Amino acid sequence: MSRVRMLGILTIFLCALVLQVSCLECYVCENQEDNSEKCVKSIKTCDFNQDVCLTEIKWGSTPYWSQGTKKQYYISKRCSNKTECATNRQRYMPLCTYIWYQDWVCGDCCQGDRCNYYIIICHSFYNPIDSGAVQITQSNLDMVLASNEIVFINFYAEWCKFSNILMPIFDDAAVEVAKAGYDPGKVVMGKVDCDQEGAIATRFHITKYPTLKLFRNGFPAKKEYRGQRSVEAFAEFIKKQLTDPIVQFGSLKELHDLSEDKRHIIGYMDRRDQPEYEVLRKVAASLKDECLFHAGFGDASQQMHPPGQPIIVFRTDKRTSIEPDETYHGSMLNFDELYTWVQQKCIPIVREITFENAEELTEEGLPFLILFHHPSDTESVKKYKEIIMNELESEKQNINFLTADGVRFEHPLHHLGKSVSDLPLIAIDSFRHMYLFPKYSDMEKPGKLKQFLQDLYSGKLHREFHYGTEAPASDNDIKVTTPPESTFKKLAPSKNRYTLLRDEL
Ligand SMILES: *[C@@H]1O[C@H](CO)[C@@H](O)[C@H](O)[C@H]1NC(C)=O
Repeated sequence: MSRVRMLGILTIFLCALVLQVSCLECYVCENQEDNSEKCVKSIKTCDFNQDVCLTEIKWGSTPYWSQGTKKQYYISKRCSNKTECATNRQRYMPLCTYIWYQDWVCGDCCQGDRCNYYIIICHSFYNPIDSGAVQITQSNLDMVLASNEIVFINFYAEWCKFSNILMPIFDDAAVEVAKAGYDPGKVVMGKVDCDQEGAIATRFHITKYPTLKLFRNGFPAKKEYRGQRSVEAFAEFIKKQLTDPIVQFGSLKELHDLSEDKRHIIGYMDRRDQPEYEVLRKVAASLKDECLFHAGFGDASQQMHPPGQPIIVFRTDKRTSIEPDETYHGSMLNFDELYTWVQQKCIPIVREITFENAEELTEEGLPFLILFHHPSDTESVKKYKEIIMNELESEKQNINFLTADGVRFEHPLHHLGKSVSDLPLIAIDSFRHMYLFPKYSDMEKPGKLKQFLQDLYSGKLHREFHYGTEAPASDNDIKVTTPPESTFKKLAPSKNRYTLLRDEL
């Protein structure tokens, strides 16, 4: 065999090897606004040592990455190798948050021809016209919640007739909402198959199908959707959710006439298009039921802040307080920080329960500590608030502090074996049982009320009701009693049927 021929064979052999190993094709694009056009059309055959396709997705604003300004996606795709891509992915890991109000960047690698088309699809892009509502599973739930301001979810079960009636309507509504052309990161309509995704259903306390829940800024709204179930009603509902809740004032004089029985958040700003306003708008959208939000721009609020330095203040309800406006001192570009501050100001730690808000309060899911008082007795309310503020503020994650008009809520008193003549008194409603705080006047003894709560958490209250406070001398002495059943759980949304008070059916 001649040397020349051998070289020839060798060359052919090598070529074949090269072709087999590395004729990978990837999509190639740079900083495109969405996953279309170039990003799904321009294809490159990679070099022989490149074995993966790389994708980078950035979320942020141009030209500078600054918080608060309008954000968009920047998508880049290219050929890469395993080492380079893994390093890249590692580097982006801490920045890859998918949180819509922050800038983020994520990197990903995939093997297979043009696979960087699909990578993007499973992460955060979907074709809204294609499928109606987005199928939500454990693997994309947190990303979808974090990367959208509003997420409206239909929790369904396939065996449920009402779920099946709703499904096409909800999907059509999703198409309608997609057509409305909201900016990316604003709104997504999703659906969860609760039989397949038991963990999600449990996490959001889904007990009936279909349940419609709104999530804003990643958190479930307090109330589930109970409006009409039509394409128009859903589309209108979404539109309303995205409407700016901040009322603009034209002069400082208007601020003198703000409603005195409401709490207010007021922004003194330069322009509506400044980033601080966008952050305030998102906070306002979450807390618009708790406070009224106002903002003035330019001349209207010029006197109240140095140019270029917006100011946000809280004005409490003037009817019950003479406190002056309180200024926010945190960062106005930090959503979490501002949200926490506004929430603290706007949601009082002690609230009054009424028949109107009872359902909403039960939906918050925390047991109630309730002061029942005579409507004419405001003294005990003041005292109760003072004690809770001073001693029990740290407990507000675990319990809902409430006051109730003992005449209107006479029924629960009877459950406790009490009547209007026994007011004021304090009780816990755990949604299973009610427990009476033994002696109202003990409230003022430091630590007593706190101990009562501890005894609820530890199960002591429940045990004592069944077996008494003393250790039994012998088994024969055990006197089993049952604490009165919860009365407030009956005010919660029905688990088996819909309340027909509203027009949801
Ligand atoms: C991967 O790609 C990078 C950048 O192009 C290059 O520097 C590196 O040598 C490549 N590594 C391998 C193993 O081919």
